[in-house]
Amino acid sequence: MSTSPDSVQRFRHAWWKDAVAYQIYPRSFMDSNGDGIGDIPGILARLDYLQWLGVDVIWICPIYRSPNDDNGYDVSDYQAIMAEFGTMADFDRLLAEVHRRGMRLILDLVLNHTSDEHAWFVESRTSPESPKRDWYIWRDGKTDGKAGGPPNNWESIFGGPAWELDEASGQYFLHLFSRRQPDLNWECAPMREALYGMVRWWLDKGIDGFRLDAVSHIRKAPGLPDMPNPRGLAQVPCFPLHMNVDGVLGHLDELCRRTFRHYDVMTVGEANGVGPAEAVEWVGESRRRLDMIFQFEHLALWSANPRAGLDVAGLKRVFGAWQKALAGQGWNALFLENHDIPRIVSKWGDPVHHWHASATALATMYFLMQGTPYIYQGQEIGMTNTVFESVDDFNDVWAKNQFALRRAAGDDEATILADVSLTARDHSRTPMQWDAGVNAGFSTATPWLKVNPNYPRINVAAQQDDPDSVLGYYRRLIALRKAEPTLVYGRYALLAPADTQIYAYTRSEGDSRIVVITNLTARPACFTQPGLSLCHAGLLLANRTVAAHADTDTIALAPYEARVYRTS
Ligand code: GLC
Ligand code: CA
Repeated sequence: MSTSPDSVQRFRHAWWKDAVAYQIYPRSFMDSNGDGIGDIPGILARLDYLQWLGVDVIWICPIYRSPNDDNGYDVSDYQAIMAEFGTMADFDRLLAEVHRRGMRLILDLVLNHTSDEHAWFVESRTSPESPKRDWYIWRDGKTDGKAGGPPNNWESIFGGPAWELDEASGQYFLHLFSRRQPDLNWECAPMREALYGMVRWWLDKGIDGFRLDAVSHIRKAPGLPDMPNPRGLAQVPCFPLHMNVDGVLGHLDELCRRTFRHYDVMTVGEANGVGPAEAVEWVGESRRRLDMIFQFEHLALWSANPRAGLDVAGLKRVFGAWQKALAGQGWNALFLENHDIPRIVSKWGDPVHHWHASATALATMYFLMQGTPYIYQGQEIGMTNTVFESVDDFNDVWAKNQFALRRAAGDDEATILADVSLTARDHSRTPMQWDAGVNAGFSTATPWLKVNPNYPRINVAAQQDDPDSVLGYYRRLIALRKAEPTLVYGRYALLAPADTQIYAYTRSEGDSRIVVITNLTARPACFTQPGLSLCHAGLLLANRTVAAHADTDTIALAPYEARVYRTS
């Protein structure tokens, strides 16, 4: 038997490895009853579209009962449906209809915190003697000299202190996110049991898995120590003390053992702070923890300087490290967009001069690596960032916090608006653009968040019949990945590593080899790879017309040009 790298590389097959996933932000996807808010019957009405596109797995952001402080990520009842979205009967119908079309459905699982309106927290809050007091993280304020300060100097991820004073008991509770999202105490066994029971309840209903929200935050540094504070800030960003903290894998082990492992489901964790060096611990198949994680490293490339364009070399370094770390051992979750970040074509492409080319080149670049690709609603039609004219145009709790904090610090309105607009989560939460009709076909009523004014130009109806549109291209990209097992299970190798414009790589398995070449800049580029024979007949996909050419190892690429060849 040969022990070539290819046979070592061979992965166990699984339905979620062959799959293409599509993320729905239910509030913005489709409104069925004219109240301006997307809902479950609206999703049902668009399932045929998703099936036509070629989607296998649908991930829906939280649809549980919630007062919507963070649009559903503040759950007040894990086993009920948010009234605005419909009923449990609607959900059951959705699950059945997804399955009837041969697709799968996964839900968002928020285990780090609940809403302050969740019955557990309401009870926990009644008194320090409550049997559920310990289900959340309660502490006395600091008493060193001046009474009453928060227990430590941690800053909330959404800005301001991570602690909220409960007047009645004089104690504080911890909230890493908004003050209406108290953190659950994962050191408390009865609390964990209650979560596991809830998770099994959904799995027994027949759903196909979960996306685990903020799961790298569930463990906090023992003793909740202060963060070093050399600059004397009121609160200090303290990620090392609540993100990917030692011991978090123990929590994950127990969770997986008590729930997912007993079902044929997929799990994908939102794992901020987990790097390639630990990737195998989180998703290595032998560890039997999660199937995939969303890592944040390529996002950090941008958030380090939101005014800068794409750092192609940095992107190759980051994605390459993940491809390498998990080769033969675990599975990647591939994504460029979600509901927490601006639109990719605005962020890393050129929505003005090269809208179509940059949307499709970025798609080609990430979609054909090793891992399960995720598409965020609207990404497949090249939706762009929107324009915010005032603070009233924002809905997101993070954005509103920023305004309050920056105003208190004396910053002027225009600067705050410009800064918050750069990274606002609301860019990706504007309603889905279905057609050129009123409210982009999303709703007959005024939508909860303004529609992007470019909807008459960018919408599904305008693209659906055109195989060369961004949508048509995504559909062909999905079909290509499904038709070529090499693109799913093959080995990844980077080409032209030093090139600062081009991201190119091969996927190979046995004697099958596919080359993916993308120019990720607005300038022409030249790709050359001595020894490679690119033949016109082997062209599998391209985002512009490619004239017939002789076999070659060198090609001139137009701005944002993308080509995929079969080669040998
Ligand atoms: C995750 C979600 C985000 C939410 C946060 C708190 O990061 O993706 O939307 O605000 O967790 O639940
Ligand atoms: Ca509605």
